[in-house]
Amino acid sequence: MSQAVNVGIIGFGTVGSGTARIILQNGALIEKRTGKKVILRRIADLDIERDRGVQIPPGVLTTDAYEIINDPTIDVVVELIGGIQPAKKFMLAALKNGKHVVTANKALLATQGHEIFAEAVAQHKSVGFEAAVAGCIPIIKVMREGLAANNILSIYGIINGTSNYILTRMTKEGAPFDMVLKDAQRLGYAEADSTFDIEGIDTAHKLTLLASLSYGIGLSFDKVYKEGITAITPEDIAYASELGYKIKLLAIAKVVDSEIELRVHPTMLPEDYLISKVDDVLNAVYVVGDAVGETMYYGRGAGDMPTGSAVVSDIIDIAGSGVKRCCSFLNAGPNADTGGYKIKDILDIETMYYFRFTVMDMPGVLSKISGVLGEHNISISAVIQKERREGEAVPLVVLTHRAKERDIINAIKEIDTLPAVAAKTRFIRVEGKEYN
Ligand code: HSE
Repeated sequence: MSQAVNVGIIGFGTVGSGTARIILQNGALIEKRTGKKVILRRIADLDIERDRGVQIPPGVLTTDAYEIINDPTIDVVVELIGGIQPAKKFMLAALKNGKHVVTANKALLATQGHEIFAEAVAQHKSVGFEAAVAGCIPIIKVMREGLAANNILSIYGIINGTSNYILTRMTKEGAPFDMVLKDAQRLGYAEADSTFDIEGIDTAHKLTLLASLSYGIGLSFDKVYKEGITAITPEDIAYASELGYKIKLLAIAKVVDSEIELRVHPTMLPEDYLISKVDDVLNAVYVVGDAVGETMYYGRGAGDMPTGSAVVSDIIDIAGSGVKRCCSFLNAGPNADTGGYKIKDILDIETMYYFRFTVMDMPGVLSKISGVLGEHNISISAVIQKERREGEAVPLVVLTHRAKERDIINAIKEIDTLPAVAAKTRFIRVEGKEYN
């Protein structure tokens, strides 16, 4: 590839306009710094009339994506329309035509990336996807290069800004979930389908990509345990706070006994941990490597300029090497080699747990519940029962020492059949130091 790299962007939405603005505004700086001239050759979008607040030179805009895909002068096709189709067919066609591809499309890569990466390998081209995980945070580069000398022991990520925004406001204001979700949608933080944000699916897409890079396993989206934040109440958040914890939607990947845990769920974390302090729409990824120890990366997980910054960094990377960057590291394929690892069933994990039982306020209830927990090898570390409404249902909060998830589920099944239990028991997994 020459010193100039010709770019075509498909999708002139939030990230597309940020990417265009960065190329146009910072092109001279990029050239000075890297010796590569990034040229914005074309932008395709169905709507080329709407003002995006960025001055696009004449002749750049088109409504036909194939004017980019089939343009022999274009080196890199940037796919920023999101979703599965037509993004997938555009990316495959671009690779077949000998273009490199840069994308922010985590949903497509996590679920069907094996087809995209296989085509990239066949064509000796790159697929850059820095913008697909944690927006501006260069976490793909960190995992692929910065920490390449490490065995990755664990990853804990807050990688969905929408759910972090919702939980932060619920924590700070005691506001109910539904109300804050509406605000997040109004502010444009949520995905087109907000269930992806609040049910942990978007987080699982991103975790799939991180885990594949970190552990050399195939894209394992289907094997990621996924639980969202819709059942979290201001009451749980208040009890968590009383116990010294914050509730965050975490992406967790860790190696335990030569098996990998891949899970996304609301998690109680000690409030003095650095990652517990990551609030609002911000993202953070905490990574422990066997050589480096603890590391953490923090920044904006969404937005035009932050995500555009990640897109342009991929373009610069590709311009620099001109060779496949991702694919040798990404063990693509749904049935690809698992790198010798088994992915742990959620029932086999072991951690601490928070329970909120709803029980009738009468003598002997606590001893019945603790009896069932004891029979299932679950040891209690803290109990809160504040409300006193004799003969009525009240919350009873229990924190446990480390226990097996299978025992937790079996204990809840038994407890929920007790006559003194008035509603389904809620539980939240707890990570971090044990409560003494
Ligand atoms: N909806 C996503 C989020 C956008 O809230 O983090 C960035 O992937």
